[in-house]
Amino acid sequence: MPSCTVNHPLVAHKLSLLRDISTNSKDFRDLIRELTMYLTYEATRDWELEKTSVRTWEGRDVEAFRAKGIDPTIVPIFRAGIGMQEGFLQVIPTATISYIGFYRDEETLLPQMYYAKLASRITERKVYILDPMLATGGTTSAVCSYLKKHGCTDIKVLCILAAPEGLAKMDEDHPDVSILPAAIDSHLNEKGYIIPGLGDAGDRLFGTK
Ligand code: PRP
Ligand code: URA
Ligand code: MG
Repeated sequence: MPSCTVNHPLVAHKLSLLRDISTNSKDFRDLIRELTMYLTYEATRDWELEKTSVRTWEGRDVEAFRAKGIDPTIVPIFRAGIGMQEGFLQVIPTATISYIGFYRDEETLLPQMYYAKLASRITERKVYILDPMLATGGTTSAVCSYLKKHGCTDIKVLCILAAPEGLAKMDEDHPDVSILPAAIDSHLNEKGYIIPGLGDAGDRLFGTK
């Protein structure tokens, strides 16, 4: 039985629709976007606030709060990570976008990099990696290594489904990086697919095969 790590009935409901093979690409994209909004709320719980004041309707100044000098960037991993971009930006519209392209070789299951364009001043930013699937963990681990090589120190991963195997690899390779999956599934099959999972996230998002 997969466990849902974001404790909310709507997350469980939307995850069930995602797993359903009869869900079409348009609905699949909507569900990934909606789930990413929940993940973004959870992932930003640690943001600090600073005090300010606002003038209210009565003309009085009252204490108020604003997020403290936070300048995040998202790293949607091509291709399936693109599906999570809009949900994050609906919650944090000012985030910059650092694209990284990886695909997983279907024979070796090893991640192959083909593109990267990072935000300016990325070393000063909170970094949120977006990829719906953490399977063997090879892709996410390689992306973390790449970002660290470029000076990033504050990295979080938002994903829809994670396999225990991938979480263990991340714990070993990058214990400083926190992972926020909407659900943790049972295991990987012999082809490295998450079980029960949802199939190939990129293909289901974009209607490819
Ligand atoms: C998928 C997924 C992850 C990766 C996860 O990408 O979106 O990036 O596999 O697998 P791993 O944890 O074993 O590395 P895929 O190779 O299917 O590319 P795509 O997004 O272009 O479909
Ligand atoms: N990538 C996917 O899209 N799905 C899986 O189950 C594993 C890797
Ligand atoms: Mg794919």
